[in-house]
Amino acid sequence: MDKFVIKGGIKLSGELNTSGSKNSSLPIMVAALLAKGRTVIRNVPDVNDVKHMIKVLEYLKVRVKFNKNILTIDVPKKLGYIAPYNFVRKMRASYYVMGALIGREGKVDVSLPGGCAIGERPIDLHLKGFRELGCDIKLEKGYVKARCKKLKGKELFLQGTKGSSVGATINVMMAAVLSEGITIIKGAAVEPEVSDVANFLNSMGAKISGIDTPVLKIEGVENLKPTEYTVIPDRIEAGTLLVASVITGGELFLKKCNPSHMHVVLEKLKEIGYKIEIGKDNIYIKSSKYLKPVNINVLPYPFFPTDMQAQFISLLSLVDGISIVSENIFEKRFMHVPELIRMGADITIESNKAIIKGVKKLYGAPVMASDLRASAALVLAAIAASGESEIRRIYHLDRGYESIEKKLRKIGAKIKRVKE
Ligand code: EPZ
Repeated sequence: MDKFVIKGGIKLSGELNTSGSKNSSLPIMVAALLAKGRTVIRNVPDVNDVKHMIKVLEYLKVRVKFNKNILTIDVPKKLGYIAPYNFVRKMRASYYVMGALIGREGKVDVSLPGGCAIGERPIDLHLKGFRELGCDIKLEKGYVKARCKKLKGKELFLQGTKGSSVGATINVMMAAVLSEGITIIKGAAVEPEVSDVANFLNSMGAKISGIDTPVLKIEGVENLKPTEYTVIPDRIEAGTLLVASVITGGELFLKKCNPSHMHVVLEKLKEIGYKIEIGKDNIYIKSSKYLKPVNINVLPYPFFPTDMQAQFISLLSLVDGISIVSENIFEKRFMHVPELIRMGADITIESNKAIIKGVKKLYGAPVMASDLRASAALVLAAIAASGESEIRRIYHLDRGYESIEKKLRKIGAKIKRVKE
């Protein structure tokens, strides 16, 4: 297992490129199964979750090549239909094969994903959507077994107690594109990644309208064709890199990003006091001496993303005054907080709220990463802290951040990957 050794307290400044979106790439790779033949997907980040999804596709008898962020996916006529426990256990997003295989084959056995470090994460909305489209779903020995003939389009409502679901919207949309008639998904998630998958499906010949809105209309088509497509930039990686520069008092010119997907995050950075200039596909950010605390309410897009919550807690732990961050999507997603406290942060958790009292300094310490964004938060704290930090279990980071240490080194960080 690798760990990072980081010497903190160095100003990080320079220019960086944003990578492609992990959370778009994963479902798009699976959506490619909906058409026989060769699909080419560009701007796919070279991260371990993508490599894992390649294995899932290969298990389903698909040939995949991955070179320089370009994925070539050769989908055969006959596909496998089982996603075993071993795959789904390692990456929940493996469950996207449900939507694509229900749509294409009318048959799929997928291991039920279990719990996860950030919360319970049920899949009831996915199953509700499939059932309403006419799929017979049984839960047997830890597996979801779905069987159906031709799905029939229908109007359905896809929100649960926490609001919309990114995964359920994408999964049901993938199942519906080849159905008979019209499916209307009300209460659809409007995250840019959902729209990216919808645009990808349309480039294959699907007829999806209402993209970027909570009401998606999907007119079923007979078949889809392979396509070429470029994935959107990763808005969470972009946000993380912006924070990396200003948490150290630096400045960054971030290229190849999509600022229109980052509205609330950029607004919050401005509210704290950072100087920001926004271009069409780039952002310039500069630190400031005059910073003030902010309150953040984490909610589905277009509000503040849960995937940036941990990184902002690191940032706010160094901003004088009291900031309150309320997490309303994964209420227990605060595993980074005890580790930040070990580095000198002053944070109290009260139910779904983190109350952060800014401190003057964080101090390097050995800490443990627990999930992808918690790990990012610890790296951010470590580059800002005085002294040396060791971050263990960085395999979480490798799942979702492309060349993170190379990017940070490029803007001046002293970060080493060490084998334990
Ligand atoms: C996606 O997860 C992302 N993962 C997550 O990113 C992200 O945190 C999350 O969306 C929210 O933005 C991928 O795209 C691969 P949801 P997903 O379904 O689809 C509840 C990262 O760090 N819910 O939108 O699983 C659920 O418990 C990861 O990159 C149900 O109740 O999230 C949560 O409270 C982590 N029933 C809320 O909805 C369901 O059937 C939103 O979850 C489904 C979800």
